[in-house]
Amino acid sequence: MTSLLEVDSLEMAFSTDAGDIKCLDRVSLHVNQGEILCIVGESGSGKSVTLLSVMGLLGENGKITGGKVVFDGQELLGLPEKEFDRIRGSKMTMIFQDAMASLNPLFTIGNQIMEAMRIHLDLDRKAARERALLLLDKVGLPDPSSIMNKYPHTLSGGMRQRAMIAMALACNPKLLIADEPTTALDVTIQAQIMELLRNLRDELHMSIILITHDMGLVAEMADRVMVMYAGQIVEEAGVLDLFKKPGHPYTQALLKSIPSIRDKEERELLTIDGTVPEHYGEITGCRFANRCPHAIDGCEQEQRLVEIEGNHGTRCWRRSDIRERMTQVSGGN
Ligand SMILES: Nc1ncnc2c1ncn2[C@@H]1O[C@H](COP(=O)(O)OP(=O)(O)OP(=O)(O)O)[C@@H](O)[C@H]1O
Ligand code: SF4
Ligand SMILES: [Mg+2]
Repeated sequence: MTSLLEVDSLEMAFSTDAGDIKCLDRVSLHVNQGEILCIVGESGSGKSVTLLSVMGLLGENGKITGGKVVFDGQELLGLPEKEFDRIRGSKMTMIFQDAMASLNPLFTIGNQIMEAMRIHLDLDRKAARERALLLLDKVGLPDPSSIMNKYPHTLSGGMRQRAMIAMALACNPKLLIADEPTTALDVTIQAQIMELLRNLRDELHMSIILITHDMGLVAEMADRVMVMYAGQIVEEAGVLDLFKKPGHPYTQALLKSIPSIRDKEERELLTIDGTVPEHYGEITGCRFANRCPHAIDGCEQEQRLVEIEGNHGTRCWRRSDIRERMTQVSGGN
């Protein structure tokens, strides 16, 4: 199957006063039509930068230094800005954690949704208004015609997020990239927004990339998962495989830090000591080594993402020993 989005060996760096800081190391990923791919990892692991690179939205100091990004059969890197603009905001759109920062406070919700359609779909005002009303209804906002006339700051956080999703859907995107879209919302609203995204995927057969640091959300939403650490993909698997047979110590640690309703009272939730290293682009060996309980001599060698079984890859040369040992300790469960 040809993927809707194929990212191959993407590398990027930020220019700073102290010189270039390498940020992404040969990141490869793909998303199929109608699929939900979750990208998970701690703060600073490179999740946002990966997708901002794909969208051509890196700030002035960010530059792509290698790789390919093919979307819907078209190479995006090196595309003239005008052509990129035509794709961004229509076929491929992005929503963020902070809807307030993405919506313009000076324009009504209706104007902002219609503007995108008038630019990309060439609709007249009447047709754009009709479609905007439909979309506001689709994302579950009550009384769409009154929402059309409201300014962003007059809506609650959950309503603003829905309005931003309506705006992202304005031009029938094939791919929606959602960067921690519900982190700022309470759990009930988060569950509603996630249900909305799943329904939209089913109904519109849209592909979704969901960036999150929440493994619970991954379990609920993902078809496939990529785990990022320090600018590299360290594990990639279908969601069931990832939860049942995590191959990388970092993924294992992330999974041990999720609470479950079935937890016995005495179960200790583990946290991962330390943080993602700074200037990780300079580390030649395993980037997780200084936090990994399984590190041994040899881990300072460069790690490659290796397939351990069909469509399940991990970047840890000790994966088989670790899995064997874990099975013995847990009695095979
Ligand atoms: N404009 C910038 N200039 C310099 N470095 C940057 C810039 N933006 C991001 N970085 C660095 O790039 C790395 C990856 O950042 P990124 O924002 O992608 O992390 P993330 O995984 O999305 O984290 P979070 O979960 O906190 O959103 C971090 O080390 C960050 O400090
Ligand atoms: S390569 Fe070594 S340090 Fe890195 S995750 Fe594997 S065991 Fe841990
Ligand atoms: Mg981020």
